[in-house]
Amino acid sequence: MTSEHDAAGGGSAPTPGSGAGERSAIDWEALRTRAREVMTRAYVPYSRYPVGAAALVDDGRIVAGCNVENAGYGVTLCAECGLVSDLVSGGGGRLVAFTCVDSRGQTIAPCGRCRQLLWEHGGPELLVETAWAGIIPMSEVLPGAFGPWDLEAGTLADPSTPAATDNEKETPHG
Ligand code: THU
Repeated sequence: MTSEHDAAGGGSAPTPGSGAGERSAIDWEALRTRAREVMTRAYVPYSRYPVGAAALVDDGRIVAGCNVENAGYGVTLCAECGLVSDLVSGGGGRLVAFTCVDSRGQTIAPCGRCRQLLWEHGGPELLVETAWAGIIPMSEVLPGAFGPWDLEAGTLADPSTPAATDNEKETPHG
């Protein structure tokens, strides 16, 4: 696909620490294949809408997850939840490249909540495959994200300090 950043077409993962800068080494087809595999394991008796998600980690691992639904609809786990659990329980690291697919194996948009989950572990440079714009950085998928800098800037130093006087730190969003 011409929209991909893997012009070299290689199957190798980036070397540890190379991060999203090594776009040419990202094997997007391997990520899609893993996402399609894990999608077949989704537990979706309520929506009948299976999702599979897969991502490359900066140490070369591929992590993945599928959605797991619940009779209490609101506690359903999106595929990205499983992926993040796989990431952290498997040793952590930073997400470099991400894709997710539906029952047809087609790329879908990560939901709003999951964009926040992905941001936490990949930051603005995480490359996300989208159906609307090809492969784009997370900073374009979730512009103006809430992040740790917001907590740092707005958390009261002392519970007795009035909020309005303790709020002068800069954030990336001004
Ligand atoms: N779903 C995901 O797993 N990830 C997304 O980013 C979009 C939605 C799931 C949740 C639910 O099980 C089903 O898709 C229908 O919303």
